[in-house]
Amino acid sequence: MTEIKGVGVLGCGLMGSGIAQVAAAAGYDTLVRDVSRDIWDRARAGIEKSLAKFVEKGKLTAAQRDAALKRLTFTTTTGDLARCDIVVEAVTEDLELKNALWQELDGRSAPATIFASNTSSLTIAAMAAATRRGDRFVGLHFFNPVPLMPLIEVVRTVTTSEETFRRAFAFAKSLGKEPVAAKDNSGFIVNLLLVPYLLDAIRAVEHGVASVPDIDKAMQLGCGYPMGPLTLLDLVGLDTTYRIAEIMFTEYREQRYAPPPLLKHMVIAGLNGRKSGKGFYDYSVDPPKLVALGI
Ligand code: CAA
Ligand code: NAD
Repeated sequence: MTEIKGVGVLGCGLMGSGIAQVAAAAGYDTLVRDVSRDIWDRARAGIEKSLAKFVEKGKLTAAQRDAALKRLTFTTTTGDLARCDIVVEAVTEDLELKNALWQELDGRSAPATIFASNTSSLTIAAMAAATRRGDRFVGLHFFNPVPLMPLIEVVRTVTTSEETFRRAFAFAKSLGKEPVAAKDNSGFIVNLLLVPYLLDAIRAVEHGVASVPDIDKAMQLGCGYPMGPLTLLDLVGLDTTYRIAEIMFTEYREQRYAPPPLLKHMVIAGLNGRKSGKGFYDYSVDPPKLVALGI
């Protein structure tokens, strides 16, 4: 069994930056690829801030933080990731984009290299089939915010080898996470259940069931959820949620996965949530204030 030393991360948005952070903090040399240096600068600033919080809380020493930052490098060339022992993909939720990157890497990576996608809603089989390493392809589904959420769903397709699955499971554990095995159905375990809930919360806003803050407050105080569904949608990203809903609706043809019109309209308006500064709430002020939606 080849030891995993080098980790490649495709994409350093919300998830890729978190995945790169936990990989570097766990001791792996971590090479990150995104489309521009500006995106990396923003991601690195977020990683530094997050590691600083862990140091503040005594969960990490200053020396461990510095060592983790040293293990992180960046490239704009996909082929550079060919030297990594595992590549975790976290680019935009788009099958064509993901498969173009996988195909570019497939011919160049070492035979033992594992390909792992962090997709929320695509089947892993749809990516594995685009490569010649169906036996070395898994899903590694992390949760947002990656440095804080303990779960990773480890997804095996019909072609994933037992050895690859075991290595991916062990890798997830080595990151300090709790892996669970999940079947390769769209949404795996968590999103199968979570996505209809989030979409229903948007439908509740559309139907005027209650105000946005009251819907959030109700689910926090009534069910003990750490954040309300509309705050969570802002965290996940409305653009990403829209893509996820479209993919899951196409897969299952069930109304509960259908993206509500309000979600689509907010995405068209650039109200993508925290990452764009505004979604259901406006994050330019602290505490965030409600965005007045014309509905
Ligand atoms: N790195 C390090 N520390 C961080 C951090 C980060 N990125 N973000 C927050 N923290 C720290 C804060 O500084 C804070 O520290 P103190 O206790 O010292 O104040 C602590 O963590 C708690 O943070 P907050 O007070 O800001 O907020 P919180 O208590 O609500 O906890 C949370 C934050 C862990 C995110 C919690 O709200 C939560 O669990 N929310 C739900 C998240 C969730 O459901 N994620 C799944 C999304 S779905 C998904 O990921 C799958 C998909 O495919 C879409
Ligand atoms: P994001 O929009 O924050 O980041 C996507 C990143 O992909 C961007 O930085 C973008 O520049 C980059 N990218 C686009 N084309 C690229 C290319 N050709 N090469 C390299 N990078 C490229 O999205 P995100 O929220 O980080 O989601 C990424 C993946 O993780 C998606 O598959 C999503 O479904 C999944 N996911 C998201 C969440 C969440 O809560 N947001 C949770 C779990 C899984």
